[in-house]
Amino acid sequence: MSNIALPFRRYTITSALPYANGPLHIGHLAGAYIPGDIFVRFLRLNDKDVVYVCGSDEHGAAITIKAKKEKTTPKAIIDKYHSQIKESFEQFGISFDIYHRTSEKIHHELSQEFFLNLYEKGEFIEQLSEQYYDEEFHQFLADRYIVGTCPNCKNEGAYGDQCEKCGTSLNPTDLINPISTLSGKPPVLRETKHWYLPLDKYQPWLEKWLLEGKKDTLKPNVYGQCRSWLKSGLQPRSMTRDLDWGVDVPLDEAVGKKLYVWLDAPIGYISATKQWALDTGNDWELYWKKQPDVADDACLIHFIGKDNIVFHCITFPSILHAHGEYILPENVPANEFLNLEGDKLSTSRNHAVWLHEYLDEFPGKQDELRYVLTSILPETSDSEFTWKDFQARVNNELVAIFGNFINRVLVLSHNYFDGKVMPAANLTDTDRFIFSELERYPKDIAGSISQYRFREALAQFMNVARLGNKYLADAEPWKLIKTDEERVKTILNVSLQIAANLAVMAQPFLPHTAERLFSMLNLDARDWENAGRETLLPEGHQLGEVQLLFEKITDEQVDAQLAKLSKAKEANEKAAKAIAKGNISFEDFIKLDIRVGKILTAEKVAKTKKLLKLTIDTGIDRRTVVSGIAAFFNPEEIVGRQVSILINLEPREIKGIVSQGMILMAEDADGRLDFVSPGSEVSPGSEIR
Ligand code: 2FM
Ligand code: ZN
Repeated sequence: MSNIALPFRRYTITSALPYANGPLHIGHLAGAYIPGDIFVRFLRLNDKDVVYVCGSDEHGAAITIKAKKEKTTPKAIIDKYHSQIKESFEQFGISFDIYHRTSEKIHHELSQEFFLNLYEKGEFIEQLSEQYYDEEFHQFLADRYIVGTCPNCKNEGAYGDQCEKCGTSLNPTDLINPISTLSGKPPVLRETKHWYLPLDKYQPWLEKWLLEGKKDTLKPNVYGQCRSWLKSGLQPRSMTRDLDWGVDVPLDEAVGKKLYVWLDAPIGYISATKQWALDTGNDWELYWKKQPDVADDACLIHFIGKDNIVFHCITFPSILHAHGEYILPENVPANEFLNLEGDKLSTSRNHAVWLHEYLDEFPGKQDELRYVLTSILPETSDSEFTWKDFQARVNNELVAIFGNFINRVLVLSHNYFDGKVMPAANLTDTDRFIFSELERYPKDIAGSISQYRFREALAQFMNVARLGNKYLADAEPWKLIKTDEERVKTILNVSLQIAANLAVMAQPFLPHTAERLFSMLNLDARDWENAGRETLLPEGHQLGEVQLLFEKITDEQVDAQLAKLSKAKEANEKAAKAIAKGNISFEDFIKLDIRVGKILTAEKVAKTKKLLKLTIDTGIDRRTVVSGIAAFFNPEEIVGRQVSILINLEPREIKGIVSQGMILMAEDADGRLDFVSPGSEVSPGSEIR
């Protein structure tokens, strides 16, 4: 099989290092990990020399903010989530050669070496400047410690280093109305020294390398973002921070300062490779450094989500370029975002499908999720996961087509021929057509994968299963067996060759299923070059035992998942209520005239369920107030009660009655109401303040 689209011998493949500050959800898998894993598995099947690296990103404000929230240490946070994330990746078959961590010594040393290399070359601009500072927390506010309005897209939740909505990279001083995320207050400016990477100086080089050199190979979503940033002109970016968590800046004059997390994190790809090489006896430099003969350079590809584009296309390449010894990324196939049930995936709102929970609730069904996510990867625009769609794709495609075909052909082979592959003789036009299709599909799938079109590749794979299912259903060997056993032998031979081809081609997408299929077929021809062969299973070959490949997803399972999301939404709304409102001035407060009043009469408002009409003695006058408390109190019970009443609220007409004020009620998280009354009887008209 020719592989013109993959001309390199050696590949260095990375997937974004997730922050070790929380569990992974389906959006992570669909962004950087499933695409990376499909690509890597495909390369390995094609006998390429590949290293696939990833690890936990354990520095930066994401970690320290989480530690503060959970009232624990950054170390406790990274240890907890590193193990959980690593386990999820393993369970889903994301086949990293190493899952490393940026808290390791080898990583700190390499990051410092990079910094010093650039420092000694005089690349950094050293600058004293005014930076935002939180006087209450005695801390400079970089990155996620400060939020404000993005000057580019006006998103009010932009961070100090990036607006995640439009992807623009920012400096804290770019934010409009900046607020400290620690104290919730506007920060003050204080002088501090930092080391800046002169991105403006690299701009001409970036334009040539990226905009000219990669015009035809970058995905349009990636190319478009880069072009627009370069068009608006790059600014120097600080590579150091005033923080107490991270890699120390290796300069005597910078004691207490740390490297910017986006300087050290991508170097994490290299330190992970170094560790892998140490563990396995490989030479890491072959995967990262330019080789004497350019044809021996490795091909570096970064799989990421769209919020990481600027760092992988602009910042990190600039650092590698400034260093000089390293290869540059060949491609950065970033995905857009995955949404869930009509809304953005959100960690803070718990609107997510968490991988560790899925693994508990759908044991053994990792490939089902891989399949559905691959079918809907946000390759060119945002896409959406819904549980109904998950159920439909599993039941109507994996179970009804792929699983059904495999089960039928194997059960029939065992029933009719004791699980032996029979010869194919007197091929019909249909049989020949099947073989020609089997030859074509592996090439088409290879073409799609090598162009990062994984949805298309998977759809073609499923077409092969569809082809097999239809061939078998049309040929009806269960009818022919009584009259034409020879023809049945051929039909089952052809069907088994399809099944064997499916096993080979399933490997990049559905690794667990492929393994089970290899065992059912008693086959070991895993390399991609085997796909397309019409005699993958030779005549007389003994098949293995039949197992069921997939099971249906039930309505109850879907309903349970939807109920879980609704519950999270409710809890979230409750929590939102628990957040204190913004401060008001004392002048505003004293405008409210709240008095103790006494209920003199109470009656239901006709044709309503919630409203009572009350007459209140306010100590100043007697007035009518309409109050929405009928669900909780009978009129006769409340006559004579003392209540709190806001008497200077503008009168309002409610159901034809003019209401002159408002009774203040306490409402708990479940929406139950009770009066706010003095502890003992006081005279009506007493002021409440
Ligand atoms: O956005 C993130 O989750 C980052 N932790 C990704 C880092 S990728 C790399 F450069 F390390
Ligand atoms: Zn923005």
